[in-house]
Amino acid sequence: MIANPSQKYQPFAPIALADRTWPSRTITQAPIWLSTDLRDGNQALFEPMNVERKIRLYKELVRIGFKQIEVGFPAASQTDFDFVRRLIDEDLIPDDVSIMVMTQSREDLIDRTVEAVQGAKRAIVHIYNAVAPAWRKIVFNMSVPQVMELVQHHVSHFKKRADEHPEIEWTLQYSPETFSSAELEVSLQACHTAIEAWGVGPDRKIIINLPTTVENATPNVFADQIEWMHRHLVPREHIVLSVHPHNDRGTGVAAAEFAMMAGADRVEGCLFGNGERCGNVDIVTLALNMYTQGVHPALDFSDINGVARIAEECTALPVHPRHPYAGDLVFTAFSGSHQDAIKKGFGAQDPNGIWEVPYLPIDPADLGRTYDSVIRVNSQSGKGGISFLMEREHGVVMPRRMQVEFSAIVQRETDSSESEMTGDALWTLFDKNYLTTPACANAVVYHGHKLAEDGHHIELDVTINDERQKLQGQGNGPIAAAVDALGLPLRVDHYEERATGSGANAQALAIIEAAMDGTAGSTFGAGMSHNIVTASVQAVISVANRLNARGAGEFAPHTEAATA
Ligand code: KIV
Ligand code: ZN
Repeated sequence: MIANPSQKYQPFAPIALADRTWPSRTITQAPIWLSTDLRDGNQALFEPMNVERKIRLYKELVRIGFKQIEVGFPAASQTDFDFVRRLIDEDLIPDDVSIMVMTQSREDLIDRTVEAVQGAKRAIVHIYNAVAPAWRKIVFNMSVPQVMELVQHHVSHFKKRADEHPEIEWTLQYSPETFSSAELEVSLQACHTAIEAWGVGPDRKIIINLPTTVENATPNVFADQIEWMHRHLVPREHIVLSVHPHNDRGTGVAAAEFAMMAGADRVEGCLFGNGERCGNVDIVTLALNMYTQGVHPALDFSDINGVARIAEECTALPVHPRHPYAGDLVFTAFSGSHQDAIKKGFGAQDPNGIWEVPYLPIDPADLGRTYDSVIRVNSQSGKGGISFLMEREHGVVMPRRMQVEFSAIVQRETDSSESEMTGDALWTLFDKNYLTTPACANAVVYHGHKLAEDGHHIELDVTINDERQKLQGQGNGPIAAAVDALGLPLRVDHYEERATGSGANAQALAIIEAAMDGTAGSTFGAGMSHNIVTASVQAVISVANRLNARGAGEFAPHTEAATA
């Protein structure tokens, strides 16, 4: 990079439009969408689509709801010509869908294009030529009058050919290519030349398509350009004003949104922003941005994953995992505070109310996505996400302080493994820490128990220090009796028990929080069994073992001999 880029790059001059209205407008309805996936998108692939892949993507575009689809460049490519013929000959164009075919401004190419669409009920023919100074000067060596002559000549030529086939409902689309880099007066003159040559009127519509062939300014500049054109184009009522943003500065979506506010009726783009260089504007993002503002985009993305997979298969380009709305990770939260907020948001969300889940701009269910991947656990995660997964995947609802305790255990594990932790791995960790006897000296291994009918006396069958023993205890219930049998100065602070699973698989999960006299803090233990009392006794042993493992307690069990 050079020290002073202003010596090499010039800012694009903003246009003088003091009374611009677009900044205070909102988008209240969907534009006419044109998918150029099969033309601009296809041109930008390492390996352009063959006819079969084009048919597959075309059918998906129709299913999504596109009413205008640019299907290719039939005069320039035999594949595109054959594809257009397949669509027409196999009657694959629904009555409410129009195909668009592109041609350069050359008589023979226009003729071949007209030939390609014979038999179609309707066709939009897209004629374009570059109008900006750099192209006039460097690429074509043409003066402005020569550019106008080119437009006039070729649009008139197309009109003559179209008039020979009145059975087809023709629409002309004229694009002053490189519009965003051109002088507005020159673009306007080129558009008016096309409008006049086509003989625009109530029954002879024209689409004027204004591209950021190369995005070269902040999106407000493009919006000003569009509002200026919107005001100057005549007869505006017979013109469909279209935009075709590219994404060289990464602001294609913003440019399209501002352009709609500035008067554009129609937007051309590609699914997931495929297209030349940094892509055409991403129609998925644009449409779903609209949806999150309460405006239906008139495109169906209720199975966004399905759309992404078809687009990936047809274009051989992956959808980025963080692609807005469609990426694999966009409904996933790793960070603890986000997980906590999302968990609370799901809990508070009224199923029929306005969507208000923190950190989720859209309900994943509206896109056919599940909540499965919303919360994932790695070293950045906190108790919210961990407990969310434990609850959703294993039916384990932990008390708040246990969530804190367990999340520290998870944190240590993910810090050392440096990897994400799945729901299954979380369960393994929970099981190892709370349900399985720890491998430490003095650990109590539970084999069984007998509870007297009065519920106040218990016999624990356990192994301690490799010695199988029967411990006797009594108290006002099985928990107090089990604590007594272990002979520990253990204070039970909290007990809860819940069912996990359902039907024959239902198990009781008992959770006990206990502290030891003379030891700071408390800890948790858990037991799981089909029998509630068994789960509770196991939870007592679990918490005793955990406290013991911390070095907090010494067992002075009440053995048979001791109590006899
Ligand atoms: O990007 C562009 O300028 C184009 C035109 C042909 C519309 O694709
Ligand atoms: Zn383009």
